[in-house]
Amino acid sequence: MLTNRNLLDPLDFNLEELEEIFNLAESIIENPSDYNQLCRGKILASLFFEPSTRTRLSFEAAMFRLGGNVIGFSEEGSSSVKKGESLLDTIKTVASYADIIAMRHPREGAAKYVADSSKVPVINAGDGGHQHPTQTLTDLLTIREAKGRLDNMTIGLCGDLKFGRTVHSLIKAMSRYENIKFVLISPRELVVPDYIIEVLNKTSCPYEEVDRLEDVIGKLDILYMTRVQKERFFNEADYIRLKDSYILNKDKLNMGKSDLAVLHPLPRVNEISIEVDNDPRAWYFRQVECGMYVRMALIAKLLGAK
Ligand code: CP
Repeated sequence: MLTNRNLLDPLDFNLEELEEIFNLAESIIENPSDYNQLCRGKILASLFFEPSTRTRLSFEAAMFRLGGNVIGFSEEGSSSVKKGESLLDTIKTVASYADIIAMRHPREGAAKYVADSSKVPVINAGDGGHQHPTQTLTDLLTIREAKGRLDNMTIGLCGDLKFGRTVHSLIKAMSRYENIKFVLISPRELVVPDYIIEVLNKTSCPYEEVDRLEDVIGKLDILYMTRVQKERFFNEADYIRLKDSYILNKDKLNMGKSDLAVLHPLPRVNEISIEVDNDPRAWYFRQVECGMYVRMALIAKLLGAK
C-alpha cells in the first residue's frame, strides 16, 4: 500500500511496489486523458532550495496533467528561510496548505530530516550529493522501456560517481534485481563512495572499477553517463582538471553493442556530443519524458487517487 507513504530513499519501496508505479505510468503513457482528473482538488508543494529544470518542472507538469494544482518556490531566497525560518517550521507550514510535498535541498539527508514533521507525504527530489529516488524511478522506467526488463544486464556508470546522487540511487535500486553487473567508470578522484560499495558487497552484486570507457563499452547493455558535478567541488582547479574526463562521441558509441541504451539524468555539459543525439541508442530525451509520467504515477499512488 503506497498511500500516504514518503519516498526518501530508493529502497523505500519494494520491487512489487515499484512494479505498481511502473504499470500505472505505462497506462498513463498509453491513455493520458483517462487520468487528467485523477488528482483534481489536490495540491502539490514544490519546494526547491537548489536549481532544477527537469525534476521541478516534471513534478509540476505531472500534477497539472493529473488535474491538480501546484504551489511552491524555486529558490530559497523567495521563502522565509531567507529570514531565518527553520526547515522544520517551513515544512510544518507547507504541510498545512498542500496534500503532498516534493523537496530538493543541498543538504544530504534533508528530506529524511523533515519527513517526520510533515503530516503529508514527502518526496525527496534530491538531497545534496546523496540520493535522488525519483530520478531512479525515471531511470528504471526508461530501462524497462528500452530493454523490456530490469534484470540480466550489465550497466556501465560513467563520470562523476562520487558526487552524482543519481548514480548512488540507481546502484541501490538496480542491485536488487537478478543478475545485474555494474561497471563503474570514473577517474580515481571520483569513484563511488564506500557506502555504495558496501551495498554492492552486501547484495553480492558483481562490479568492476575502471577508468577508460573505451575498454569496457563493448560489453555494456546500458551506459549511464553523468556530468561532473561542479557545484559539489571544493576546489575549482580540481573541477577544471576532471570536467572533460569522458566525452561520448559517435566513434566511441560505435564501439558499443547495437542495442546499447545510453541514458543520462541531464543536465549535460559536454559529456555526450550532440552528434550522438539522433542515434537510436540515445535514450536520454525519452528518459526526460518518462520522468514526468513516472512522477504522475508516484503522486497518484501516494495520494491514494483512484
Ligand atoms: N536530472 C535532474 O535532476 O535534473 P534537474 O537538476 O534539472 O532537476
